Amino acid sequence: MNFADTEVVASILVRNGFEPAGDIESADLIMVNTCSIRDNAEQRVWGRLDLFRSIKRKRPSVVIGVLGCMAERLKEQLIESDKKVDLVVGPDAYRDLPALVTAAGDGHKAVNVLLSREETYADINPVRMDSNGVSAFISIMRGCNNMCAYCVVPYTRGAERSRDPYSIVNEARDVFERGYREVTLLGQNVDSYLWTTGKEGEMKVTFAGLIEMVALISPQLRVRFSTNHPKDLSDDLLKVMALHKNICRHIHLPVQSGSSSMLQRMNRKYSREWYLDRVRAIRGYMPDCTVSTDIIAGFCGETEEEHHDTLSLMKDVEFDFAYMFKYSERPGTKAERHFTDDVTEEVKTKRLNEIIDLQNKLSAACKKKDIGKTFEVLVEGEAKKAIAGRTMTGRTSGNKVVVFESESAKPGDYVLVTIEKATSATLTGKLLINKDKR
Ligand code: 5AD
Ligand code: SF4
Repeated sequence: MNFADTEVVASILVRNGFEPAGDIESADLIMVNTCSIRDNAEQRVWGRLDLFRSIKRKRPSVVIGVLGCMAERLKEQLIESDKKVDLVVGPDAYRDLPALVTAAGDGHKAVNVLLSREETYADINPVRMDSNGVSAFISIMRGCNNMCAYCVVPYTRGAERSRDPYSIVNEARDVFERGYREVTLLGQNVDSYLWTTGKEGEMKVTFAGLIEMVALISPQLRVRFSTNHPKDLSDDLLKVMALHKNICRHIHLPVQSGSSSMLQRMNRKYSREWYLDRVRAIRGYMPDCTVSTDIIAGFCGETEEEHHDTLSLMKDVEFDFAYMFKYSERPGTKAERHFTDDVTEEVKTKRLNEIIDLQNKLSAACKKKDIGKTFEVLVEGEAKKAIAGRTMTGRTSGNKVVVFESESAKPGDYVLVTIEKATSATLTGKLLINKDKR
């Protein structure tokens, strides 16, 4: 999400006459886009600000800015800190950046952290940065209305709003025509995407409708999306996915915990049974669909039994992949106000390690089952580590990374690869045919 936002920021700046600097030493404006989701994300930003401050000491005219969730959360405190920040801009105020940069350059306090009920940056065509020319992120909605007890996002990114579907389809078509072969539609809870004109009797577009519109651009365009919420994942979406081969067979479905009592404390609004039912539905419609998840270890009041429920749910589902975190208390959240962060650091670490060890085993086992199978792989580029000769890397529809040797495959090609070896993170295979060469 921040990556996509940074591309919007770059576009706004370029439209207003700014140019990217070759390196940080020659930049007149240095900004960091920030995340507040866990304390360690914020600590990394404080470290980065020390580096910026040392540059500003040498060149006092440099303008230093903090964007995104930390800007929203800390507001003026960032300017008042000893880090020499000149500019603080929240996630809904990026259109104001050119004016704010000028104000900061003139020595004024430049802060805009107003949240909006409407802003979706729909008309801004993001500048694709650091791109492989194959995959692009497209933001389809902003904010979140869910109020999970542990989460700071609703406070830093504001209320949920959906972007005009035609601007989304146009952006996807534009990147496809420029040679991209994959778009990832982004939102905090894509299942609750809903666009209406607001007038009675007029059309409504749901997420299932939107994804079909994007999938119909071309069968050569892969469509991904993130993140789904288990409480809202609908059969309608699964049916649309099953109908279109170019909608990728992968769902990222954060479970957070395998214990119903814990899920209730987290305010997730589903139970363990509901989650398992959704996974069954996914596999019922698409037996080859991969499922990945997010898990939090050591949320407030977590008992050993609740932790074991998480481990047993992981075994039941056999996730292909998981992002796993220790609970980190965030100021202002429901959990910070109403619960005690009472699981000790030592126990959080122990539980997280148990979760990671189990997931490593599950990931390795599920990759092992792929040996001998043939996958359609979208080539992304050359692999960092060569196996032999020219080694290329790409992904399956299920989002598994595949490396293979080929002299001819180019980024953006679809190839068929038969898997010969598997580790917990990567599949290695042999190129069968380069479909784009037939
Ligand atoms: N502590 C730890 N992990 C968190 N997440 C969100 N808030 C917190 C927190 N306070 C995790 C959730 C979410 C992912 C993006 O980050 O698992 O799905
Ligand atoms: Fe945070 Fe929950 Fe919204 Fe996800 S759905 S961003 S975890 S409040």
